[in-house]
This record gives sequence, structure tokens and C-alpha cells, in this order.
Amino acid sequence: MPASVPASPGEGHWTDLKLDAIVLGLLLECADDFVPGGVLCDKLDVPRAELLKRIDSLRSRGYVIDTRGGLGYRLVEVPDRLGEAQIGPLLATGELGRRIHHFDEVESTNDEAHRLADAGALHGEVVVADFQTQGRGRRGRSWVAPRGTALTFSVILRPALPATRAPEITLAAAVAVAEAAREMGAPAARIKWPNDVECKGRKIAGLLTELRAEPDRVRHAVLGVGFNVAVQMQDLPEELRPIATSLLLESGERTARPVVCAALLEHLEEWLSLHETEGFAPVAERWRQLSSTLGRRVRITGAGETIEGDAVDLADDGALLVRDADGTLVRVVAGDVEHCAIL
Ligand code: BTN
Repeated sequence: MPASVPASPGEGHWTDLKLDAIVLGLLLECADDFVPGGVLCDKLDVPRAELLKRIDSLRSRGYVIDTRGGLGYRLVEVPDRLGEAQIGPLLATGELGRRIHHFDEVESTNDEAHRLADAGALHGEVVVADFQTQGRGRRGRSWVAPRGTALTFSVILRPALPATRAPEITLAAAVAVAEAAREMGAPAARIKWPNDVECKGRKIAGLLTELRAEPDRVRHAVLGVGFNVAVQMQDLPEELRPIATSLLLESGERTARPVVCAALLEHLEEWLSLHETEGFAPVAERWRQLSSTLGRRVRITGAGETIEGDAVDLADDGALLVRDADGTLVRVVAGDVEHCAIL
């Protein structure tokens, strides 16, 4: 078989996707500028005819690419659709997002992810939906996300951890989401214990990790992420308006949802693999730096009694350490935190 013919249709398909991703990456890097065709061909190490195929392939998936004779190519618009064809070429991950299951509407992406995981889906497969009819939040609450302007997705994880260490995953994920939000134009993003990502007291993202575990091992975990991308106040129910924000409101710019999804998955992969290789210590250190809870007077409700005191540290297992009025250090493992004064 000649060298230029792929060994199987599958292999050729993945090569095309990889080339599409490289073209897209180069066009994204140059933002509003034209990239000469010759530069793209050199970087891809392909002839002009192959570059034209890649440009056509990206256009067929909704990317708007401007061409000017002599100047080259410029990315004008990234499609806001959330399918694998739109998110895939933007992804530079190894495992997270290796398959993306897209739904127009589901009850909850976490439920779909559990179903797929029970049927054998692999670590890193993602379920994303344009709309959830029964989105779940922490502690039995619902998660409301308007159609078209928010991101709601769940990642199937198969961590080699005992169930007792599962809270570490959520804290690592909160670090990843806060860092991604900061990089994408929300520099005020910080983490409210345990894993709300907020900007100046308004929530931009929430995380919900659910486990299917046996006594000695986690069969799988589903990490659900709700991220307000281009949500405007008028899109939200009245009661959420004083406590919510979005990337659009924080940055003043509209970022396409596939771009946000790819950035979140890349940061998640980075922090989850660091956690896997180096344990919880580096995660806890970054969590402390990004925390909006430590160093504050807090009131914690919803875990039996109400606890009031000063949030002084994050324990080695992810619990919040609060010094109460008697000077006793209390370990808080669950509950809702209300921030009071800064100490
Ligand atoms: C919270 O802050 O209470 C957690 C919110 C988590 C919401 C996400 S949206 C995607 C995934 N599917 C759900 O039903 N919930 C999570």
C-alpha cells in the first residue's frame, strides 16, 4: 500500500481532525490577523491542495473563515454549536473529551453520563447538552441554565481512588474551572468552599461530582459542570439575578461556547492528572490561593447545626477548618457557606 494511503479509514479520519485542529489553533492564535497560506502549509507540512481541504472541512462545521488573495486566511467566527464536530478541533487534551455525546435536551447531563458509564464508557467521555430540564445542583437544589447561553456538561471519570478521597476530585476541578475562567476574561474568579466558582460574590460556575462506588473503590465518578458563558441577567429567574454572573458580564466579550468548553476540559485534564500523579498537596496549595473563603468570617448551614467562625484553612482531606467563638478548630465536611466579614 502506498505510504500516502491511510491504513484504515479511521486513521485517515483522525489525521484529518488533527490537521483541522492545527489549522484552527494557528488561526485562533492570530486572532484578527490573516495567516498566509504558505505559513499554514509549512506548519502542517502539507501541499496547498490539502490545506484547502482542511479549510473546507472547518467551514462545513460552521467555522467562518475569511480568505483574501495574497493575505491568507482569517478566522471570523467560531460556531456556537456544542457538537463533537465543533468542540473536537479546538481540543488539545489527551483523554478528556475523547468522545463527546451531544444532546439538544436532556433531564441532566449527569444522569446521561452515569448511564453511559454503566454501559462501559471510558474515562474522559463527555456529555454536553444545550438544555437540561432537570439540572441538579449541590445539596438537592436544581441548576437553572438558560438555553443557548450556558454550558452544561458532565465528564465520566474512572479514578484509581478510594471513595473517601473523592472530594479531592471536586476541589481539583474547582481549581481548574477558576483558572480557566480567569484566563478567559474573568480575572476576579475565585473559589467559595468547596467548589463554587464566583466573581465578587456572584456565581459563574458550579460543580457537582457524583460517585458510583463499592466499599474499596470508585467504579466511576461523574463530574458535572455548569458554566454561565453568555448568560444575561434578564435570562435568569428573578431570585438568581443578585447572585449570578457570566463570562460575558465579567469580560464584556462573547466567547463561543465550544471555545469555553475546550478551555475547561483542558484545565480539568491538567489538574486531574496533576492530582493523580502528585496527590492532593499541589491542588490544595492552588485552591488556597484561589479561595474567596479563607480569611473570612463564615456562617455554615445545612449540615445539622449552624457553625459561625473564621475560615482558617483547608485540611489535607478537603475539609474546611473553622475557628469558632470559643477558639475551637471545627472541621466542616459539608454545608453551605455564607461569607460574612473579611478578617
Ligand atoms: C452547584 O453549584 O450546585 C452545582 C451545579 C452543577 C450543575 C451541573 S450542569 C451539568 C451537570 N448536570 C447536572 O444536572 N448538574 C451538573
